[in-house]
Order: sequence, then structure tokens, then C-alpha cells
Amino acid sequence: MISKTMQDAINAQINKEMFSSYLYLSMAAYFENTGLSGAAKWMYVQSGEETEHAMKFFAHLIDRGGKVELAAIAAPETAWAGPMAAFKAVSEHEQMITKSIYDLYEVALAEKDYPAQVLLQWYINEQVEEEKNATQVIESMSRIEAHETAILQLDHQLAKRGSK
Ligand SMILES: [Fe+2]
Ligand SMILES: [Fe+2]
Repeated sequence: MISKTMQDAINAQINKEMFSSYLYLSMAAYFENTGLSGAAKWMYVQSGEETEHAMKFFAHLIDRGGKVELAAIAAPETAWAGPMAAFKAVSEHEQMITKSIYDLYEVALAEKDYPAQVLLQWYINEQVEEEKNATQVIESMSRIEAHETAILQLDHQLAKRGSK
């Protein structure tokens, strides 16, 4: 049986993952509206992965006889200054999530919750990937900056993003 402290902390993280999904969905809408359908595709995939992250915690609570308590999801922003600003926001958001996963790991250590520690190690690895993905797009963008054609080429590349 999972402790109440661990359960509450995981429920709070489920909300953060769902907010992440919502945020990236909002960015997908923004990119659709600004004609960058490749970047929108990247965001749809990213949004779907965040829902999976939430569901992995959800399943963990259920498997351990815990109680899932879904809270309201905050409204994300709906506009950014441009593609670069949006991807910088992704990067900052992921750094915040990484910190949140580390805090959760601290709770699992304090609670001597070994199954949660094992589960969280998956998220720790996943965050390395998440931060890397955002950084790569930012680096490509900073290299091409205001070159409209190059942005469209990059958009074409982003459209090829698979589920991983
Ligand atoms: Fe996530
Ligand atoms: Fe993420």
C-alpha cells in the first residue's frame, strides 16, 4: 500500500503532466494558426507523450491500491512571440518538470518507497530526453534565426517527428 504522502505527491505530478499536455496542445494550435504545421505536429506528439506520462503515474497509483485524485488543469498561454519564444518556453517548462521529478524522488527516498523510486528513475531518464529535444530545436532555430525559408525547411523536418 502506498503512503498518503507519496500518493499526494504523485497526484500533484499527474496534474503537472496533464498541464504539460495542455500547454503543448495550446502551442500546436498556435503553430497551426501561424502556418507552421510541422511545428504543430511536433507539439501534438509532445502533448500525447505528456498524457502518457500522466497515465503512467495514474496506473502506478491504481496498481498499488492508491487513490487517483484529478484536480483542475490550469489554462495554458495561447500565444507566443514567435517559434523561438515558444520552443524556449518548452525548454523552461521541461526544466521545471525535471526539478519537480527530482523533488518527487526525494519524497520517495524519505518514504522508503522503493517501487516509486524505480518508477521515477524512468522519468529521470525521460527528462534528459525531453530537455535534449527542446534544446536541439532551439539550436537549429538560433542558427537560422530570421531566414524565413530556412524556418520553413525546419518546419518540414519537425513534421517528421515520430512518437519518440
Ligand atoms: Fe512529462
Ligand atoms: Fe515533458
